[in-house]
Amino acid sequence: MSTQNKTNDAGGLAGAPADNSTLPKELRRAWRLVLLGAPGVGKGTQGELLSHRHGMCHISTGDLFRAAGSRAAGEKTPAMAEAMNYMHRGELVPDATVWALVREQSNSIRSRDGFLLDGFPRTLAQAELLKGFMEDEKLPLSAVVDYEMPHSEIIYRLSGRRICAKCKAVFHVTWRPSKVEGVCDECGGRLYRRDDDNPESIAIRLEAYQRSTSPLIEFYKKQGVLTPVDAVGSAEEVYARTIAALQARA
Ligand code: AP5
Repeated sequence: MSTQNKTNDAGGLAGAPADNSTLPKELRRAWRLVLLGAPGVGKGTQGELLSHRHGMCHISTGDLFRAAGSRAAGEKTPAMAEAMNYMHRGELVPDATVWALVREQSNSIRSRDGFLLDGFPRTLAQAELLKGFMEDEKLPLSAVVDYEMPHSEIIYRLSGRRICAKCKAVFHVTWRPSKVEGVCDECGGRLYRRDDDNPESIAIRLEAYQRSTSPLIEFYKKQGVLTPVDAVGSAEEVYARTIAALQARA
């Protein structure tokens, strides 16, 4: 799912890639986006739609950590093994470990097609590191999309989420159920519940978001790039709002 455009990771939502020539002129550009928002607000779902339809690189730090975590024990660095423990508890991984992981994606960040960062930055220290990097590269951010949603909806979304172990397609037991329970519609893989989608870890993740990530709203507002988007409604409705908000900035 991370740093590449997959055909249908949003559980059948992505559809055919858009022909960019049919888009309004102001949207036919390489966007450099940060997707902000509490856990479960739909960053991954919107990230897949945007990257698939607009061709930019999707970089999800959560997915990168999960991919690194699924390696055999002997192949994991001590920092990565430690990062897994933070993730399972729902706590934020230390900034230095996150930054080392993001730096490995520098080529994707420099891509001519643009990029979207999903789940990064999450602390002011990470935001400052990214700012310095982008200034050095002379690549200003186009927008920071801040997805907004009430907590009750977040808990509903996270507690029903199921992910395909093979192709990473995202389902929801009520909102987007698979045709056969526990089996991925896309590839027949096994659907599982993420380790951190239990009530205790969800509460810790929401608290970490309030404490460490919500200050980024002010940080990006001051820079004039904050773009709030209401995340309630269907994925297509939220996508349409995102595009309208980006279009208004262009
Ligand atoms: P990460 O993987 O980034 O998790 P998160 O931020 O908690 O976000 P989620 O993936 O849970 O939710 P989402 O907003 O992508 O929602 P989704 O589209 O899946 O990070 C996990 C952990 O890694 C962190 O806790 C931390 O430990 C570590 N980490 C990662 N980055 C880090 C960083 N920068 N610094 C430090 N630590 C870091 O949707 C959720 C569900 O809702 C799905 O079931 C979906 O089908 C459903 N859904 C989506 N859209 C809709 C809709 N419109 N209507 C109804 N249902 C919907």
